[in-house]
Amino acid sequence: MRKIRKAVFPVGGLGTRFLPATKTVPKEMLTVVDKPVIQYVVDEARAAGIEHLIFVTGRNKAVIEDYFDAQVELYTTLAERGKTEALAHMQDLQPSPGTTSFTRQQEPLGLGHAVWCARELVGDEPFALLLPDMVMQARKGCLAEMVELYSETGGNIIAVQECDPEETHQYGIVGKGRDIAHGFEITAMVEKPPRGMAPSNLFINGRYILQPEIFHILASQERGSGNEIQLTDAMVKLAGKEPFYGFRFAGRTYDCGSKTGFIEANVAFALERGDMRDKVMEPLAALLAQHDK
Ligand code: UTP
Repeated sequence: MRKIRKAVFPVGGLGTRFLPATKTVPKEMLTVVDKPVIQYVVDEARAAGIEHLIFVTGRNKAVIEDYFDAQVELYTTLAERGKTEALAHMQDLQPSPGTTSFTRQQEPLGLGHAVWCARELVGDEPFALLLPDMVMQARKGCLAEMVELYSETGGNIIAVQECDPEETHQYGIVGKGRDIAHGFEITAMVEKPPRGMAPSNLFINGRYILQPEIFHILASQERGSGNEIQLTDAMVKLAGKEPFYGFRFAGRTYDCGSKTGFIEANVAFALERGDMRDKVMEPLAALLAQHDK
């Protein structure tokens, strides 16, 4: 079975839910505690054994490319000031030369279009797709678990989580079939089903392992809901030819493209850090008590 070596990060979206911040700062560069959102997702990919990072960017996103570049002046200054720990941390985060690629989406025509823009860089091999505004918190990374499942099943894999049945109309939803290995067979995929029409309450949480055949389907550039080129529509077509499996992620997912999800992520990651937990807990408890009144 072919190893999953490459990961695609679609960062071409406009981030309109986060205006005015996203007028000049890409939403992927907003910080959760002290790291940009995109760094969490890249860390998850590297922990899953990904060797090559492919970013599909857009206008105003050049700072993402700079972020993953070496900052020689900064490194020299840190070394001169004896800040060896900070320097080592910076160097550890930096991808090795030749292991990142960037391509421009040119027009934000939808997630399916962004994925299609990566076709030349991915080539003819299965790949991981990570939506960078979905940040996950778990003992073991979501993608690492999916790669394990993939080694047993092959095919295409989509990570899912349960949502409130009243909220299925906001998400991409899958239908659940037979259990298999540590996952299940997917019987249906629907993007934002009308209320009462969802095949389950399992929503697609932003992590995928896909076969390269998806690019041939996306090439037709067919528009779907919202007049956007939808990835889900292409996956439905691919499911007619190839198996799709669901992986139930047991950790937490924060939608950092939404204001409330972003705030929740900041609090959750701060509380997880030994150096911050107590300092954050006290004022937070005081604030909550004040707002309870
Ligand atoms: P979203 O719909 O969450 O992102 O797309 P958005 O369009 O940037 O956000 P809002 O709704 O205007 O606030 C999911 C993912 O797909 C990427 C986004 O960057 C995000 O990671 N995307 C979406 C693209 O790369 N290109 C697109 O044309 C659309």
